[in-house]
Amino acid sequence: MENKFGGYYKKSREERIKILKDLEYIDEKMYNYLIEEKSLENYKADKMIENELGIFGIPFGIATNFLINGKEYIVPMATEEPSVIAAASNGAKIIAKNGGITSKVQENRQMIGQICLYDIDDFSKSLKILEENKEKLINLANKYHEGINNLGGGAKDIKFLKKGQFIIIYLYVDTLDAMGANILNTMLEGISFEIENLINAKKLMAIISNYSLNTIVKASCKLKVDSEYGNKMMLAYEFAKEDVYRAVTNNKGVLNGISALTLVTGNDTRAIEACIHSYASKDGKYMPLTKWEYKEGYLHGSIEIPIPIATVGGSIGLNETTKIALNILKNPNAKKLSEIAAALGLVQNFAALNALVTDGIQKGHLKLHAKTIMEFLKANEKESNIVIEKMIKENKIEIEYAKKILGEIRNEYKL
Ligand code: MEV
Repeated sequence: MENKFGGYYKKSREERIKILKDLEYIDEKMYNYLIEEKSLENYKADKMIENELGIFGIPFGIATNFLINGKEYIVPMATEEPSVIAAASNGAKIIAKNGGITSKVQENRQMIGQICLYDIDDFSKSLKILEENKEKLINLANKYHEGINNLGGGAKDIKFLKKGQFIIIYLYVDTLDAMGANILNTMLEGISFEIENLINAKKLMAIISNYSLNTIVKASCKLKVDSEYGNKMMLAYEFAKEDVYRAVTNNKGVLNGISALTLVTGNDTRAIEACIHSYASKDGKYMPLTKWEYKEGYLHGSIEIPIPIATVGGSIGLNETTKIALNILKNPNAKKLSEIAAALGLVQNFAALNALVTDGIQKGHLKLHAKTIMEFLKANEKESNIVIEKMIKENKIEIEYAKKILGEIRNEYKL
């Protein structure tokens, strides 16, 4: 893999943006937008939410070095947390050197919607009538959203289950590249009227389910490692399997990547996070989303998660930065974006565990923190290197201390 992004983090912001343009990840218009530090305009924001006051900033960057399904990627991320992008880039580099990541979304990706019925007169009779009208209800659902049907998506299946005092109807819809809340809610509300005509029951509610179990992505990687390291990585996985306190932190690390990508691509981060966390408990216990196994000289990493991500709809088209983020990814469809997201989650977890079972997490964090201080003090590279080394050695990463050393070395070396 040719390293077009070597030393990228050392460049100025302007240089980094220019590299993206030169390598055709962004066009001239996008280049100007970033260079001119533009962001979402208030007139659009005012249409997106209520009582709008302004734009809340979150840093936007790229993680480099990804090799997914044999293709090179740089991955856009919006995050407030230092070290996340550096960790992803570093983890991706190590994995790419070992052949990269394979990531595959399931066939028949579908979203699920529910109608909850209560006050059921006769359960078995009602379920029988509903079963008999299955095809009719699917066709009717599609009439309520002909647009998605014409594009090749639409309602594909419907199931009916008795649960406690309710009959719950599950509608399965291929929403193509949309997250599909509007599509599903329109279909569900539409067919509810027909259902109330068919059986003696009342509708409690009709709404999309965010437990999008038909959007599963499986990603994996394989690294040649020594047995001591491989076993430690496997133990890190066993630890998370054993203990929920660790499993939650492990999965938080996975979401450091996935949520940053879902946010910058204009997606509903809460829906995706709720879905992923629920999936982590699907067997009755909250478990790590990633798995690490050491076998015969190789460390095998994998992740299996639902990712109901979208590339159209909602606020995706409104936000210029979101369009830039998708362009950087070469405008994938929703399925491909979900494969990239799963790969990113796996990489982010690898990077975290790799640091945790070796040097610990603080070393990298402290170095970044120290670098930020030196940038704030406008120190040159030579000054920064000296001051950072001294601060880390003495475990004293403080701005006042940095100023003091900087003053001393400027006197001493006449820098
Ligand atoms: C920090 O944001 C994320 C980690 O705590 C994840 C982990 O412990 O696996 C480093």
